[in-house]
Amino acid sequence: MKTNGFDVERIRADFPVLERMVNGHPLAYMDNGASAQMPRAVIETGTEYRSRYHANIHRGVHTLSQEATEAYEATRELVRAFIGAADQREVVFTGGTTDSLNLVAQCWGNTHLKPGDVVLVSEMEHHANIVPWDLVCRRTGARMVKIPITDSGEVDQDAYAMLLAADSVKAVCITHVSNALGTVNPVRHMADLAHAHGAVVVVDGAQAVPHAAVDVQALDADFYAFSAHKMCGPTGIGVLYGKMEHLKGLPPYRGGGDMILSVSFDSGIRYNAIPHYFEAGTPPIEQGIQLGAAIRYLTAIGMDRIAAYEQELLAYATEKLLAIPQVRLVGTAPHKAAVISFVIDGVHPHDVGTVLDDLGIAVRTGHHCAQPVMERFGVPATTRASFAFYNTRAEIDRLADGVREVIRLFQ
Ligand code: ALA
Repeated sequence: MKTNGFDVERIRADFPVLERMVNGHPLAYMDNGASAQMPRAVIETGTEYRSRYHANIHRGVHTLSQEATEAYEATRELVRAFIGAADQREVVFTGGTTDSLNLVAQCWGNTHLKPGDVVLVSEMEHHANIVPWDLVCRRTGARMVKIPITDSGEVDQDAYAMLLAADSVKAVCITHVSNALGTVNPVRHMADLAHAHGAVVVVDGAQAVPHAAVDVQALDADFYAFSAHKMCGPTGIGVLYGKMEHLKGLPPYRGGGDMILSVSFDSGIRYNAIPHYFEAGTPPIEQGIQLGAAIRYLTAIGMDRIAAYEQELLAYATEKLLAIPQVRLVGTAPHKAAVISFVIDGVHPHDVGTVLDDLGIAVRTGHHCAQPVMERFGVPATTRASFAFYNTRAEIDRLADGVREVIRLFQ
């Protein structure tokens, strides 16, 4: 197997947690779809902030506040460049992907949806791109309609085109990469169709941004959401990218400090400019600065090299698991990210996860907050191995051996 000069051992040395033993075995961390690990550079950026310039931002004239503001706002430009946005003001900091999608559903949905309108939501969405739309549809009288997926776990493009043509579709909500199946969706193609019907496209990019170069303008996404903690950053901060033409004119998301210019009981409230308008209250400052460090770290390795290496891991893992007759893959699209969901005949995924954990292998088991996907494939849950660029073929060998051990114990 070629690795294109990708020195995985050198990269692994950047991640202190990968030195850990779990249940007497070296940790093999394959739950990156849930949260990826942090390299030393990101951890130390947080420590430096905490020990040298912890202060509130946008408010103080003192040195610490200015340093913190500068570092936090520098992340906005790093994010802009990382995702190819046209303008820093299109980068709104949020609490994470879920928060970003709730912002769109509430602010955009409440403004633009009315009775009779339709919001198309793909069947492979994470609950975070379903439930906020259900809430706003109930409030506005709009209808949420499912875009079905095929047996291989791809969006049924014929059904999608028919749904767009049939109704007054105002928004199309799709994930860039499915967290439960690994499918990479043809976002640009779907966006072109949506736009031809006058609908906006809301993309959940949580599983895409950490694994390949993303260019929101090339995708022509109207809104694009992702989280820091899946891309080697901390929990508690994420991003909503929105085209300025859509962000403009939206009502506030939350009220409070920092999103206003002035507040007067006599003369009323004047709001701050976008993006601060959507960012009420003290943000997660340390986490924002760490997100910047994560982007610097990933950029230094190169997203194209990360994507190529992870594709090699995916091919290797698929081959290894398919060699085990009792294993059935859920999600077999030709274009996938390095996510493998599988079931083992006659063994509950929870038991699979427990045995693998005994062997030091961290995978996720359950419905992955994508219950419609489980329903579609007629399974209550799957076991999911989701890889990052610090995983190795040797770890995948251990995963395959672990799965054989599960089968030996339970069958
Ligand atoms: N959305 C996260 C996952 O897929 C938690 O595991």
